[in-house]
Amino acid sequence: MTRILIARNLPESVIAEARGLFDVTYRDRPDPLSRDEMLEALAGYDGALVTLGDAFGADVFSEAGTPRAGILANFGVGYNHIDVAAARAAGLVVTNTPGAVTDATADIAMTLMLMSCRRAGEGERLVRSGGWQGWHPVQMLGLHMSGKRVGILGMGRIGQAIARRCHFGFGMEVTYASRSEKTLDFPATRCASPEELAAAVDVLVVSVPASPETHHMVNAEVLAAMQPTAHLINIARGDIVDEAALIAALEAGVIAGAGLDVYEHEPRVPEALLALENAVLLPHLGTAALEVREDMGRMAVANLRAFFAGELVPNPV
Ligand code: 8YV
Repeated sequence: MTRILIARNLPESVIAEARGLFDVTYRDRPDPLSRDEMLEALAGYDGALVTLGDAFGADVFSEAGTPRAGILANFGVGYNHIDVAAARAAGLVVTNTPGAVTDATADIAMTLMLMSCRRAGEGERLVRSGGWQGWHPVQMLGLHMSGKRVGILGMGRIGQAIARRCHFGFGMEVTYASRSEKTLDFPATRCASPEELAAAVDVLVVSVPASPETHHMVNAEVLAAMQPTAHLINIARGDIVDEAALIAALEAGVIAGAGLDVYEHEPRVPEALLALENAVLLPHLGTAALEVREDMGRMAVANLRAFFAGELVPNPV
């Protein structure tokens, strides 16, 4: 029977489904695979269901030589922790779970936008500290988000889901920067560059995939182009934003606030960022809802099933 490693704790229904199809070794733990475990995943199994933090770099594949495994089915849409070119060169197919993550991730973007614009984290801290003196007309004034301009950096599936929520739900004007012009079912204007986009909007949302090309795409120049009243939101991957430059911009009031679900060196969050009242910090909650994680798991298992049935995998990367 086909031997599969499930590298991380997953919802029970996903494990049950996988067990019905394969001889499953279930590593029921929350931490990423160690290097030795990654090598064992490649040498001792026909395939592995892996996820964020399982750092399959080129060096792992070169040490693994000719692997037994034929597929890495990633749980999650982002696969920047896997060197896909090196995986392919080693004869592996890599798959991911697009679609399953879209709405939940867009919802977290909206959560962060509202929290940052309306100072929700700061307000909650005030109440919990016992220091709230009561309502008054000019207390904790934030940015009224409805009707403002949102900039979507990366108009893929998730970017479009965010833009749709902004347009239809909040009457916002949508501007975007993307490698290609998109055909969209809502009004939106395309900008030529991240800087141009940054300068044009009240809320800038990062929704591009992580890649060498997008590393530090939001740098000091992009942040400097933003309005001092504007907010930056990142629901994609931490290293797309130059975190040190962001901290400097927040400290100096170059921008008004930031809402982050992801960090450059997860799970490490710099002390300087923790100290900032104008930063909303979530622990990578993008898809953290049981039914979403079940959908993602089912999708990863469907990719494994198709691969071992000799069919085309539904979600190759
Ligand atoms: C995942 C995500 O839950 O799908 C992604 O790429 O960013 C998350 O929402 C997590 O990263 C596992 O891949």
